[in-house]
Parts: sequence; structure tokens; C-alpha cells
Amino acid sequence: MSYRNILFDSVDGLARLTINRPDKLNALNRETITEIDAALEAFDRDAGARALILTGAGDRAFVAGADIGELAEQTPHGGREYSLYGQSVLSRLEASGKPTIAAINGFALGGGLEIALACHLRVASESAFLGLPEVTLAIIPGFGGTQRLARLVGKGRALEMILTGDRIDAREAHRIGLVNRIVPPAHLISEAEKLARAILSRGPVAVRFAIESVNRGMEMPAAEGQFLEATLFGLLTTSEDMKEGTRAFLEKRKPAFRGR
Ligand code: COA
Repeated sequence: MSYRNILFDSVDGLARLTINRPDKLNALNRETITEIDAALEAFDRDAGARALILTGAGDRAFVAGADIGELAEQTPHGGREYSLYGQSVLSRLEASGKPTIAAINGFALGGGLEIALACHLRVASESAFLGLPEVTLAIIPGFGGTQRLARLVGKGRALEMILTGDRIDAREAHRIGLVNRIVPPAHLISEAEKLARAILSRGPVAVRFAIESVNRGMEMPAAEGQFLEATLFGLLTTSEDMKEGTRAFLEKRKPAFRGR
């Protein structure tokens, strides 16, 4: 499939999705969201693509939010449908069993921060700014931001960002746990790739189950989450990779995992 608003390719097991409207600071119009959805589906289907890095084109923005020109035309019914659609795309991203990393190269605002929040990990350039400025437009985040931000950084910090609409810089985002790492701009993609490759060297089925256990567990009472964890733990003991991982340790060599 060819895309007009994103770049999507996969090299050596690593897929890269770049939101590519730099003249509009990569703002998300409807067509862009649909293309992201299609690329995520292709990523999930492609057994050769084992991890995904999401970033924005240019050096100014990751994504500066939903396209405000389109937002200005929304109706109550259309706005609800638009929000549900964006939520479903980002839920697909979050539910991917293969690791996803946001490489935040500049402004990650509104829907842009919501995309980053739906990724499993976030690496930010030292020059990035992050925020949910929706209330400055008299709306609220609609692509899962009110839920994921509060779960990631806590209710108080999330409410401060959501109610003021103020941006924070990368250093502050790192301090509150909103991003995992901050790096100089020139090292952003290489650092995200390094992180992805480190994860890819681990047992792939274990990585998939770990994502599932954390994601689903967060939605459950703690006891149910632990029960899910125990069940997935038990299931992993039947995998070839688990035998290989434990044997390799005992034989003092590197494991050769096969994803089985
Ligand atoms: N939707 C549509 N267009 C956007 C956009 C958005 N969310 N964010 C930026 N753009 C466009 C601008 O309209 C401008 O287009 P133009 O050159 O055709 O006029 C271009 O991108 C560059 O943005 P500009 O505002 O001129 O850059 P800046 O450096 O002065 O400011 C920001 C950068 C990010 C602070 C500012 O663009 C901004 O506040 N954007 C909106 C952020 C937002 O509220 N997002 C949440 C939406 S729910």
C-alpha cells in the first residue's frame, strides 16, 4: 500500500513509521490516522517486522496534535465517532505483541502525545516538548490521553498537565516518568533502535506475554492480574525458547531464541 502522510518501511526486523506532514508539524488529519491504522495492521501481520519505532518527519515536531482545521468542523456525533476511531487505532498500537517505541523528536502535543502514550516505551530528544493542550481549545484529549497519562504518571501530575494544557520539556517529562530516556537530538533514532534491538535479543514469546500481562493486568484487580501472570508464566515453561534460555545460562553461552 502507498501512503500520502506517513513513511513506513522495515529494515532488518525493525519497522519504522514516520508521520510525514512536516509543514503542518505532522498534525494528524483523518487521512493520516487511517494510514497509521493500515500501517499498524501491516506491521502486526508481517512476521519479519519484530519491533516498531514511531517518529515524526523533520526536526521540529513528533506530532503537534490533531489537525485543528478538521477539529473546528466537528459536530457532537462526529466528534464522538472521531474520538472512538482514534482510540481504536491507538488501542491497536498499545495491544501489539511486538515492542513499539516512540522516538519523540520535537513537539508531542495532544494526539501526538497520545500516540506516544500508546507506545510501550518513549525515548525523547532533549529538545522535545510534551503536552495535552486540548483545554486551550475548549476540548479534552480524545484519543485515550486522559486514561493513559494518569496511569503512567499518576492522577495528580496528569490532571496538572490536562487542566493547564501547559507543555513540559523533555527533562521534566523524564523526571516524572513520562519518557523512559532523553538523548541529544542527533542520537534519538540510534538510541531508540538500540533499545529495540536489546529487546529483540530476548525471548520473543516472553516479550509478547510480558506486554500482554502488563497491559491487561493494568485493567484488572491486582489478584486477577497476578493470576493472568501466573498462567502466562506457566505457559512459557512449555516453550522451546525457555528451555534454550535456561540451558544457555547453565552452559555459559548466549541463547539462540527462535520465537517458539
Ligand atoms: N493542526 C493543524 N495545523 C497545525 C497544528 C495542528 N495541531 N499544529 C501546527 N500546525 C500548523 C500551523 O497552522 C502552521 O501552518 P501554516 O504554516 O500553514 O500556518 C504550521 O503547522 C507551523 O506551525 P506554527 O504554529 O506556525 O509553528 P510555531 O513554531 O509558531 O508553533 C506550536 C508551534 C506547536 C507551538 C503550535 O503550532 C501549536 O500550538 N500547535 C497546536 C498544538 C495543539 O493545540 N495541539 C492539540 C490539538 S488537539
